[in-house]
Amino acid sequence: KTSAAPFVPAEHTVTAIGAALPACEGCELYKHATQAVGGVGPAHAKMMVVGEQPGDQEDIKGLPFVGPAGRLLDQTLEELGIDRSELYVTNAVKHFKFVQKGKLRLHENPRLSEITACKPWLLAEIDAVRPKLIVCLGASAAKSLLGGTFGLMKQHGEVLSTPYAERVMATLHPSAILRARDDASRSQMMEMFKADLAKAALVM
Ligand code: URA
Repeated sequence: KTSAAPFVPAEHTVTAIGAALPACEGCELYKHATQAVGGVGPAHAKMMVVGEQPGDQEDIKGLPFVGPAGRLLDQTLEELGIDRSELYVTNAVKHFKFVQKGKLRLHENPRLSEITACKPWLLAEIDAVRPKLIVCLGASAAKSLLGGTFGLMKQHGEVLSTPYAERVMATLHPSAILRARDDASRSQMMEMFKADLAKAALVM
């Protein structure tokens, strides 16, 4: 059974976690990714934002949300007056999963087994940071922390309690907004995303 657990240090501090993460071979994804990408942000941030997995640029740079999805996240946070540097930003899965298409590396959704295998890292980060509120971006992060019965489109923006953190919320993934089929659905998704993040800022 694949799991990151043997690679996660006993000491749950962001420093210890960051030092141990590069050696993770807890599932197969490390084989093709450039590097594992851990969280970034204050060690005791009040809000933790959890994405799905690093994308192409994150994989290269070793930092979360520094590509197109990150730019949309940054813009939205800025519009809401939320300072990204005060948030701890991480992902449910620490290695980039992709298929190679010529020069392009195309994102692939992580399997539930990969999300589950990587969960010990996320739980260690939560234990280290102890955020007041966790915001899951998209279905993969929600699956990790809220379980398979959570329905993103029905329950986005609801503040829920979990064994890991007292307050957990999920909203759209910025990449989903970038992939919207037309302008009308894009603006509708943007409104949803903004409203949920605005609520998160208030809850926190
Ligand atoms: N999408 C994610 O879910 N996480 C990142 O870090 C970048 C893109």
